[in-house]
Amino acid sequence: MKWSSIDVLCCPFCKGSVVLRGREPEGGDLVFEGELICASCRRAFTIHKGIVHFLQTGELVGSNKKHARLNDMFSHVYTPTVKLMFALCGGEERARCECMDRLEWHEGARILEVGIGTGDNLPYLRRRLHRFQAYGVDISRSMLRHCESNVKKWGMEAELFLAEAERLPFKDGTFDVVFHIGAINFFTDKKRAIEEMIRVARPGTKIIIADENERALRVLDKFLLQLWIGKREEVVPPIDLVPQAMQEVRLETIWRGYGYCIEFRTPG
Ligand SMILES: C[S@@+](CC[C@H](N)C(=O)[O-])C[C@H]1O[C@@H](n2cnc3c(N)ncnc32)[C@H](O)[C@@H]1O
Ligand SMILES: [Zn+2]
Repeated sequence: MKWSSIDVLCCPFCKGSVVLRGREPEGGDLVFEGELICASCRRAFTIHKGIVHFLQTGELVGSNKKHARLNDMFSHVYTPTVKLMFALCGGEERARCECMDRLEWHEGARILEVGIGTGDNLPYLRRRLHRFQAYGVDISRSMLRHCESNVKKWGMEAELFLAEAERLPFKDGTFDVVFHIGAINFFTDKKRAIEEMIRVARPGTKIIIADENERALRVLDKFLLQLWIGKREEVVPPIDLVPQAMQEVRLETIWRGYGYCIEFRTPG
């Protein structure tokens, strides 16, 4: 993490301020090893190889626990698998742009992707902006490591955190752009995750949440999904969980009929 990121971080549990106990940066703004301590609840969060671990092993519950484990095991095949899935609904570029084009971009924006995975949306940010600060959280260590190596390969920068959508480690009103693609169907607590995305967005921010719909999952069930997910309930886009106070709330079908996108604006 960057030393400067401390300004936007908070304890994901009690939302108290965090202070850094780390080595002095070696000639730069980066902290590779160290610890963040919550000034209120005194929890400690390890910084390892530049990534703050806001989650300890064994802290996840419900489907997040299962998905973190599966994503840790299969992160190396994630990108080709998704390319194949997107190929069936018009191609990856088209599918990702369908989401990115719904967001509002401005130079210098601070951007958060919740469930960043291997970072495959990052190149699409660079196409839209020259200057931005990208932040990503994910519950899978292995996905984050792949993301980190992609970020280097693409000559980009991104601040990555091991953390849950349901407990974001950021102060209120931090981000100009907030989005999530591809996992909310199976979040342990979708309502809380949506509330957290709203909390960390600046007033007046457009937020999007996209995932596969039931039609897509039925197709995938025929292949490997049942092994992956196990017995599952029918997927319903979680539009009813968007708080009443949100504005311009819309639910649209995307990905050639195989996905949904919820978009809304936080009150200004
Ligand atoms: C299907 S991948 C999508 C990755 C990326 N958003 C993309 O569009 O390629 C979903 C990612 O969300 C992460 N994830 C799942 N549940 C999560 C949660 N509750 N909080 C944060 N990340 C989560 C998974 O570990 C995985 O890396
Ligand atoms: Zn705390």
